[in-house]
Amino acid sequence: MPLDLGAKGSCQIGGNVATNAGGLRLLRYGSLHGTVLGLEVVLADGQVLDCLSTLRKDNTGYDLKQLFIGSEGTLGVITAVSILCPRKPKSVNVVFLGCETFDQLLKTFQLCKGMLGEILSAFEFLDSECMRLLNTHLKLANPISDCPFYIVIETSGSDSDHDSQKLHNFLEEAMTSLLVTDGTVATEESKIKTLWSMRERVTEALTHDGFTYKYDISLPVERIYQLVTDMRQHLGARARSVVGYGHVGDGNLHLNITSSAKDPALLASIEPFVYEWTARFQGSISAEHGLGLKKRNYIYYSKSRPTVAVMGKMKTLLDPKGILNPYKTLPDDLK
Ligand code: LAC
Ligand code: ZN
Repeated sequence: MPLDLGAKGSCQIGGNVATNAGGLRLLRYGSLHGTVLGLEVVLADGQVLDCLSTLRKDNTGYDLKQLFIGSEGTLGVITAVSILCPRKPKSVNVVFLGCETFDQLLKTFQLCKGMLGEILSAFEFLDSECMRLLNTHLKLANPISDCPFYIVIETSGSDSDHDSQKLHNFLEEAMTSLLVTDGTVATEESKIKTLWSMRERVTEALTHDGFTYKYDISLPVERIYQLVTDMRQHLGARARSVVGYGHVGDGNLHLNITSSAKDPALLASIEPFVYEWTARFQGSISAEHGLGLKKRNYIYYSKSRPTVAVMGKMKTLLDPKGILNPYKTLPDDLK
């Protein structure tokens, strides 16, 4: 599968396509807008729309299936998917590294792209606050020494000797240039799983920390952590934890804030601060998880009025009675 994400144990493919979450390997295989070749969709009037092509190239008219990818079920119900699957890689390595600063983490990413290039399949990060929650709530032990930032790098290729040589050269360079302070490598399945769980189970650890306010932001990659730092400073002791993790390779930050209980005053301090901050740097207030119910009225921070108006017309055309996943994605002022 070209898509992999922490929710793999419980999610369904129709939901994956409807929400268009990017997951852990978008860096390598691109988004579902590229890998989905065809869809079957049930429309609001009960008609079955057959766009279930398996062709790589097909420019006969408008590419309608793209409308339904990421539409959160508001335009139709996806009932079948054809998806382009890559060859399963023969050789997989995972590295878990620690950095002192986010700037060093970004420099490591640049070095990694340059030296691992075609075999790089993921570049993910979590901060020390995420590590604290993994330790406290899930009893997962840090596989390396304590650092402010952690990176998960995965390589996937067809020749293990070639891949390990490249990885070795990269690690040597990253260590000698003092970009990373500690690290561990896994080539065998069980250790690969253990290292990945440090990244994949952050969401689960957060659910044990209290009520969680979740933000899913994309920004120019050099800015992503500044938002976490600014938010921490902005909220001070009012938040229990302010954590940052996500997909560095895609410029996608998951900013999560917890408190002991639902706290309207805290929420009022977070929003619209977080959206204004994101809009200032031309970011997206919903990178991969969709606007849903809670964020739909903030759409204008990332999309212009004429753009949202066209979305409204499409909704009216395909679902004139508003029966498909109502109250989601589109703002109230369109209704
Ligand atoms: C993740 C989910 C939250 O990246 O998208 O872990
Ligand atoms: Zn994510």
